[in-house]
Amino acid sequence: MKNYPIWLLTLYLLLSCQPLIKEVQTAPLGVTAKNAMVVSAREEASKIGVAVMAQGGNAFDAMFATELALAVTFPYAGNLGGGGFMVYRLNNGTTGSLDYREMAPLAAEQDMYLDDMGQHDRKLSTLGAMAIGVPGTVKGIFEAHTQFGKLPVDQLIDPVIDLARNGYVVTAKQEERLNQYRDLIRETSGQQVLYAQTYKAGDTVKNPALASTLVRLREEGANAFYNGSMAEQMSQFIQTKGGIIKKEDFEQYRAYWRRPIRFSYQDLDIISMGPPSSGGLCLGQIMGMIAPYDLESLGHNTAAYVQHLTEAERRAYADRSHYLGDPDFVAIPTAQLLDSAYLRHRMSTFSPTKATESANMGYGEINFIESDETTHYSIVDPMGNAVSVTTTINGAYGSKLFDPELGFFYNNEMDDFSAKPGSPNMFGLIGGQANAIAPKKRMLSSMTPTIVERNGELWQVLGTPGGSTIITSVLQVILNTHHFKMTMQQAVNQPRFHHQWLPDLIQFEQEGFSEALMNSLKNQGHGIYQGEGRVIGKVDAIMRHSDGILEAGADPRGDDTAVGF
Ligand code: GLY
Repeated sequence: MKNYPIWLLTLYLLLSCQPLIKEVQTAPLGVTAKNAMVVSAREEASKIGVAVMAQGGNAFDAMFATELALAVTFPYAGNLGGGGFMVYRLNNGTTGSLDYREMAPLAAEQDMYLDDMGQHDRKLSTLGAMAIGVPGTVKGIFEAHTQFGKLPVDQLIDPVIDLARNGYVVTAKQEERLNQYRDLIRETSGQQVLYAQTYKAGDTVKNPALASTLVRLREEGANAFYNGSMAEQMSQFIQTKGGIIKKEDFEQYRAYWRRPIRFSYQDLDIISMGPPSSGGLCLGQIMGMIAPYDLESLGHNTAAYVQHLTEAERRAYADRSHYLGDPDFVAIPTAQLLDSAYLRHRMSTFSPTKATESANMGYGEINFIESDETTHYSIVDPMGNAVSVTTTINGAYGSKLFDPELGFFYNNEMDDFSAKPGSPNMFGLIGGQANAIAPKKRMLSSMTPTIVERNGELWQVLGTPGGSTIITSVLQVILNTHHFKMTMQQAVNQPRFHHQWLPDLIQFEQEGFSEALMNSLKNQGHGIYQGEGRVIGKVDAIMRHSDGILEAGADPRGDDTAVGF
């Protein structure tokens, strides 16, 4: 941070935590700001993103810096060794999306995770070098910057290099997570690596190896990672550890600009990520299925409300498992899946008082016409551009394989493929042939970086981690604000539930749902799961109020923090 003029630092630090809305609010209001805001999983990352905008940068510059700062301070999910999706809306209303999802290596095979008995070897697809998909994050942020960025790369990257060199302070939640995964990290990466060590809350973690990697990116750009010495270094390291990624995999990796999914819900227009993420399509299907019902009269989080959402979710996730995959490999009937007549037909078996059994309900018939970890951040810049980014290494600390020379964890995104039709992945999601493994194919995601317009104006920027629960978390936050008039922070704070077709259960967060509600749903025939300490999603969102003030929803389930000016 030392490169910034002191007056600028003082200005944004002073303003970042000050509520600017003066009128009395009856509901908790998140951090507010007049001009610009970043909400992310770490305070340092949000501050660095906002500082970029205070220096004249735009939302895409802030994206570049925030993503890298998360790679330093949030190794749980922030990354250079993973991938992600970005949805944007420019201040002139233009929208688009960037796919920098990982891809299967050239040597990948459909049955690569099946053992001699033809069973899915879950350890192989989740732990260590064989679980790694070719990382896309570095390509993604450079691509976004080349297309839309204003400030030079060194101005964006230098504060992050300082952060990696000088260190970040471990939070209590980080200490807990590191304790939880240390044995697996040690088993996979050895006793010596940075995150095999024990850290207590308040300790400072310095990552000089990652600082050197960032210096190389500053000097040579994304080429260093995909075509240069780093590609050689990474592929050798991965192969030494038993993986199959070669230098050519890095050379052939591309980030793609894709048309986002866009659909209307009452007076809202929702712009979200399309395949290879299922996020936007599934969200559109669920919202299309619940649109005919008067949710407000059902009441927030009542048994009737849970029943309506659950039954729509069940049907959308059943379609997801059958139809969705990488659009460059499979034909996806997007228009039909979002068609209102199709969605009405899907709900024709819906009963407001009885659970539909997933076992008796497959995917819908479509006539084809040819035609658990992640992180999210939301950004609005002073010009009114908005960027919604979800990025991941899949599981907590990804494959648990840490590259000691480069200073980061590699993903275990290969587990998002359907390793064997009918066999659940780590999120319990069942996939079909559409999401089978093939060389250079991208694994189906649930990431749902989303932007909401109301009456044609920017209203919300939001998204969340949470594997399969991402889609339903985003859904509930939008409904909380739209139907129940909650502030952004209040909407994010609300307890959440989730259904994904199979397993045939409604999952609930531990806090916030009564025994009576559970009993009522059990009586309707639902299976209920309420895991101890279970949280569903960590939503980071921004709402633009009608007076132009930006309000954050930073999820209290994590260390998530909003900063603005
Ligand atoms: N790795 C989680 C997802 O992409 O949905």
